[in-house]
Amino acid sequence: MSPITGFAAVPRVSRVTGRLRVPGDKSISHRYAMLAAIADGESRLTGYAPGADCAATLACMEALGARVTRHDGADTIVIAGLGRRGLRAPAGPLDAANSGTSMRLLSGLLAAHPFTSVIGGDASLSRRPMRRVIDPLTRMGATIESHDGRPPLTIRGAGLRAITYAPEVPSAQVKSAVLLAGLHADGRTAVKEPTPTRDHTERALEAFGGHAFRDGDLVGVDGGQRLRAITAAVPGDISSALFWLALAGGTPDSDLVIEGVGLNPSRTAVFDVLRRAGVRLDFPDLPPGGRGDRGEPSGSIRVRHGSPASFEITPPEVPLMIDEIPGLAAMAAMQAGVTMTVRGARELRVKESDRITMLARGFAGLGIRVDEYEDGFTIHGGPPAGGEADAAGDHRLAMAFAIAGSRARGPVHIAGADAVAVSYPGFFDELERIAAGGAD
Ligand code: S3P
Repeated sequence: MSPITGFAAVPRVSRVTGRLRVPGDKSISHRYAMLAAIADGESRLTGYAPGADCAATLACMEALGARVTRHDGADTIVIAGLGRRGLRAPAGPLDAANSGTSMRLLSGLLAAHPFTSVIGGDASLSRRPMRRVIDPLTRMGATIESHDGRPPLTIRGAGLRAITYAPEVPSAQVKSAVLLAGLHADGRTAVKEPTPTRDHTERALEAFGGHAFRDGDLVGVDGGQRLRAITAAVPGDISSALFWLALAGGTPDSDLVIEGVGLNPSRTAVFDVLRRAGVRLDFPDLPPGGRGDRGEPSGSIRVRHGSPASFEITPPEVPLMIDEIPGLAAMAAMQAGVTMTVRGARELRVKESDRITMLARGFAGLGIRVDEYEDGFTIHGGPPAGGEADAAGDHRLAMAFAIAGSRARGPVHIAGADAVAVSYPGFFDELERIAAGGAD
């Protein structure tokens, strides 16, 4: 379906074959854009994530004084860095749109700059909890006003002191906000991470000529580092690839290769779950340790349908695959006799939507039984009868319902399908290509 509309009819998929590529990684793109803006020199990034979230970060960096050149028709952007403490007071409020990563990471940078800025977002972002970044950044010396812990945030930057911080929930966004502030603080700032989260900020700092250290469960940075511009390629987003892994993995006779996917080990725990669910995965062109471009390994993934099995995601696994849970749920939903249970996933309730209630409601609309818990759910696999599901403004729910819906017995419609533009603008075009007989 092209162009994407707010109300999408989902094509029927009978098997998934061929090769495809997914958009650039969102987490890496946000970080490269922010670090490029505070580095010395001109950074050139290819494969920058095409969705609205990373566009919001770029627009914020421009509003803070960085010059961004987009090359039409190509996925390369050039960012002229402003150097250490070079960001300038924006003329108006910064708009993070739907993007929690933009807001939380930028808060860390803004806390260290000596001006006042306001950062807000859309209705969904305005409901999301920000105390998790307000607390550490305030302890470091910034002044931040919020609406009872929610956006918009008014940030008065200051000279910061280094702290050692133990977040209440494992969160790469919180860790990154503190590290980005710590780059400008007096001394050594560290975050205690009993459960490791994605380490893109640490790798990005190294790529830009800086340094992040890891010492046991502490991750940290020394203040006062200067960063140097880079030329780098952003690998494909594993969280976007997961939707196709789920569709191929849950559909008999499927054999699909996804090229150029980021295979950073802090993002790949989901492969264990896929294997437990009976999916066959291979990494055809991957030397041990992966092919790295500036510290971010990438390679192809070959996925084949195997022997479907019920599976669980345990509480310690949840932070390692928090964004992949809707896609995994879709894979369970499409397979008769398969159940998926996830517990210890309360964080899902404060994502782009309440991803427990809205996921249960959406799948129920397609005829799938879901038991909802305070901290998770159990999906009882179908295949779905068909019907209508509301994406609730959430890009990952829109894609999860479409993936499950493409295997339904009857017609499926997704309300609010245009939410996919947040991370994967071409998602429905790719689904149409797959439905038409192959991703080639
Ligand atoms: C992200 C971290 C995760 C993830 C989000 C992107 C990042 O959030 O859900 O989509 O880029 O750091 P939390 O840090 O809140 O778990």
